[in-house]
Order: sequence, then C-alpha cells, then structure tokens
Amino acid sequence: TPPENFYEAVGGYETFHKIVAVFYQEVADDPVLRPLYPEEDLGPAEERFRLFLMQYWGGPHTYSDNRGHPRLRMRHAPFVIGPAERDAWLRCIKVGVDAVDLSPEHRKQLWAYLEMAANSMMNAWV
Ligand code: HEM
Repeated sequence: TPPENFYEAVGGYETFHKIVAVFYQEVADDPVLRPLYPEEDLGPAEERFRLFLMQYWGGPHTYSDNRGHPRLRMRHAPFVIGPAERDAWLRCIKVGVDAVDLSPEHRKQLWAYLEMAANSMMNAWV
C-alpha cells in the first residue's frame, strides 16, 4: 500500500489527469494497443484508469464507488496481454509520467509500481 499522502504530494488531480490524458493520446496512435480497446471513444476508459490511479495513490475513492473492487487481472482477462502489449503499455505510460514534474523519489515509486502492475497484468507469453 502506498503512503496515504502520495496523491497530494505529487499535485493531486491535475497530476493524475495529465499522466492519464497523455497516456491515452499515445494509446490512440499505438498500433498494438488501440485495437484492444473495445470502444471507439477512449474517454470513458481514460476516466476509469484516472480514477483507479487516483484512488490507488491515496486520492478520492470514486473508482470503487463506481466500479466496485478493482479486480484488475479479471477485468483484463478478455484482452490478450503478452510481452508486446505490456511493452507498448509501458511505453505509453512513460510518455504520460514524463509529462509531469515529479521529484526523483516520487517518480521512482510510481514507476516501480507501474512496471510491477504491467507485468502482473500479462495473461499470455507470446
Ligand atoms: C481497462 C488494456 C495494463 C488499469 C483496460 C482496457 C484495456 C486495457 C483494453 C479496457 C478499456 C476500458 O473499457 O476501460 C491494458 C493493457 C495493459 C494494461 C494492454 C498492458 C499491461 C494496466 C495496468 C493498470 C491498468 C498496469 C493499472 C495500473 C486499468 C483499469 C481499467 C483498465 C483501472 C478499467 C477497469 C474497469 O473496467 O473498471 N486496460 N491494460 N491496466 N485498465 Fe488496463
């Protein structure tokens, strides 16, 4: 569990909004990832991911109020996520993380989590 104040310490809503908005700009143009997203409009997916990350890092609990327990591995089961998808996802989220100004320590913490989470979401190895 992350420290309760991480969300506020890195700038709260604005910071998470920026990271996730830039991530989805990358996804929209990514030939590996874009076909996985079932909806034409990426806006609702962007909101779900933003609310999840905000909650995970100690912000408002709106994600679970709306969606219940995250169960992220289960929710990703419909999509084939192998090394190529994992790498594409990490490339896109890195552009998002690079778009905000974090202290080296906050950045390190956030990145360690994202890499771990991306690896744990894999459900295929080809
Ligand atoms: C949902 C792909 C990793 C968090 C989704 C969706 C896709 C997807 C296609 C459905 C879009 C939607 O309608 O919401 C991937 C791929 C990944 C990956 C290819 C590669 C590793 C991650 C990671 C996290 C994450 C590491 C968390 C740190 C979420 C959340 C949702 C979501 C919160 C919405 C869940 C809900 O329905 O409430 N992802 N994802 N994803 N993903 Fe990922």
